[in-house]
This record gives sequence, structure tokens and C-alpha cells, in this order.
Amino acid sequence: GNKSINAKLVLLGDVGAGKSSLVLRFVKGQFIEFQESTIGAAFFSQTVAVNDATVKFEIWDTAGQERYHSLAPMYYRGAAAAIIVYDITNPASFERAKKWVLELQAQGNSNMVMALAGNKADLADSRKVTTEATQAYAQENGLFFMETSAKAATNVNDIFYEIAKRLPRL
Ligand code: GTP
Ligand code: MG
Repeated sequence: GNKSINAKLVLLGDVGAGKSSLVLRFVKGQFIEFQESTIGAAFFSQTVAVNDATVKFEIWDTAGQERYHSLAPMYYRGAAAAIIVYDITNPASFERAKKWVLELQAQGNSNMVMALAGNKADLADSRKVTTEATQAYAQENGLFFMETSAKAATNVNDIFYEIAKRLPRL
């Protein structure tokens, strides 16, 4: 029969990388040009149907500002999946993403499904982080990688769907 799976998912990444925008696109199909910086964290849920299961994502959209860093373990502890977000126009945000990966590898649940989202793919003219560099990094670290655009709705549903497919089945 069709399985029902609840999956805690956390979004991590630098301030302004587009975590909240990806969630807003995924959950409500909307985009806000002047999205406010998240304070603490925000909770959302959304359901995705894959072949053999219905996955209900319980999504924690964390705040990227450094002063909230110490709260992050509360949100990634026990999470089945994480999306680590950077902005393809901002190399510092890619460096921050790599630090999140290290932290999750050290402190996160060992069978966590980790996805790397190179967001703002619509801003190709301002790109500073190449697809090739990230692909190599993702492969070395066993991460699933996609470039996304919350603004243009590119690869947003897809990244959640790919995570849903990779979750361990009960
Ligand atoms: P914090 O909550 O501060 O950690 O930031 P965040 O990662 O949640 O970023 P947020 O979603 O607030 O987006 C920051 C800014 O980038 C906003 O002005 C968004 O409109 C813009 N933005 C987000 N995603 C995209 C995208 O895919 N393309 C473009 N062009 N702009 C985007
Ligand atoms: Mg936010």
C-alpha cells in the first residue's frame, strides 16, 4: 500500500541566500522581492507524493544571521533531511555552506539526506560560483546538488521531490 512518511527537514545557509524564498515558493507558490530576514526560525509543512509514498515535510526555515548560529542544532537534530543553501552570485555564501556541511557531518544524524542548493540561478550574469566547482565538491561529500531559483521557480519542487525519493523507507 501507499506509505505515509513524516520527515523533518531543515534549511541552513548564509543570510540572504534565499532559504525563506525557496520555502515560500515550495509551500505557497509565491515569491517576494523584499523578503524579510528571518528571526530565529519559521515552521512550514508541505506534502509531496512520490511513487510509493506520501511524504509530509515538516520544514524548519532557520535564520542565517550569525547571532542565531547557536540555535541551529535544535533544528537539525533529528532531521531526516537538510537543504544547505548558497547564492551563486556570492562566493562567501558558498564558503558558509561548506561550513554547514562540516557541522552536519560532525553533529547531524548519520543517515540524513543532504542537498546543496545553488540558489538565484536566474542571476546568471552575476554568477561567481561555477556549477562545475560545486558539482565536484558535492560529489566528494556525497551531497545531492541542484541549482535553483525561488524567483523563477526553477528546480524548487524538484529538489524537495528528489529528497523525498531519497528518504529511507520504513
Ligand atoms: P535569512 O532569513 O536572513 O537567513 O535569509 P534567507 O536565506 O531566508 O533569504 P531570503 O529568502 O530572505 O532572500 C533574500 C533576498 O534574496 C530577498 O530579497 C529575496 O527576494 C532574494 N531572493 C531569494 N531567492 C532568490 C532567487 O532565486 N533569485 C533572485 N533574483 N533573488 C532571490
Ligand atoms: Mg529567511
